[in-house]
Amino acid sequence: MDQASGLRKIVNEKASDLVRNRVLESSDAIIGDVIVNSPRVIAITSGKGGVGKTNIAGNLAIAFAMLGHKVFILDADLGLANIDIIFGLYPKYNLNHVIKGEKSLSEILIEGPCGIKIIPGGSGFSDIANLTEGQKLNLLSEFEALDNEIDILLIDTGAGISSNVLYFNLAAEECIIVATLEPTAITDAYAMIKVMSTQYNMKYFKLLVNNVFSVKEAKSVYLTLSKVIDKFLNDVIIEYIGFIPSDEKLKTAVLNRKAVLELFPDTCSSKGFTDIATAIDSSPRRHETDGNLKFFLNRFIGLGLIEK
Ligand SMILES: Nc1ncnc2c1ncn2[C@@H]1O[C@H](COP(=O)(O)OP(=O)(O)OP(=O)(O)O)[C@@H](O)[C@H]1O
Ligand SMILES: [Mg+2]
Repeated sequence: MDQASGLRKIVNEKASDLVRNRVLESSDAIIGDVIVNSPRVIAITSGKGGVGKTNIAGNLAIAFAMLGHKVFILDADLGLANIDIIFGLYPKYNLNHVIKGEKSLSEILIEGPCGIKIIPGGSGFSDIANLTEGQKLNLLSEFEALDNEIDILLIDTGAGISSNVLYFNLAAEECIIVATLEPTAITDAYAMIKVMSTQYNMKYFKLLVNNVFSVKEAKSVYLTLSKVIDKFLNDVIIEYIGFIPSDEKLKTAVLNRKAVLELFPDTCSSKGFTDIATAIDSSPRRHETDGNLKFFLNRFIGLGLIEK
């Protein structure tokens, strides 16, 4: 079995109909319109684990907050390095409690630095596809109540091509793929882009290169990836949005359970996060159909229940 057919097999086994059906929905995508006053939903994802997604989500959140935005982070990572860890927070409740109807979304929210709100994912996302209709509806109305309170929703996903990761990536308005100089991080980023583009018709991605020592290294990651994309995938656009330098201070911040932008605002990685947030903030939104929080929820929940 070659790599592509192996991946197809995994997705066909793991992804639900909701994810698969997105291919049809997104074929009439409208790209390039600017939406004003609706939450911008951005997934931060990667093929390979441990490339820096959680740190990127946490620090970009702070940078966006410093630019004056109301920022939420949805912690959709089932791994150990959850967003609350880098903020030194210990959530008592998580989305699972909302799904079970035991808590409201506002009751589980925890506040991070700069007024950022974190939605702890916990075990609530062990398998999205298994939620009952009632649970989905409950979640939907809970999220709807927050619509006006959010400018930017960042989703810190897990790594790799699991059905949960695909759900979040496909539901979000924009998808930032994180890769490093490591060859496996590049090939796994390609594998993820390949699955999302060929099987789910997602054609536009942003690339953030993390943990490199120079712009030259970052650009080499972009060139390697874009060459193979141009060669093997049709109509896929990968936009390089910048890099975060390798920074010992970031590691020190992680050990102190703080975001580097909070602990060392003047270090090189902090500057990188601020630059990237500023660039994203001033770039036109690139979305499909609606692109706001309700759109995200429609995708996520898989019910055509919300009127646009
Ligand atoms: N720019 C950087 N400079 C130095 N070290 C970094 C940098 N980015 C990440 N790291 C190191 O990589 C580790 C993993 O980062 P992080 O937890 O953010 O990755 P992740 O992609 O979220 O991992 P997972 O896939 O397990 O969720 C950090 O704890 C830190 O030690
Ligand atoms: Mg993580």
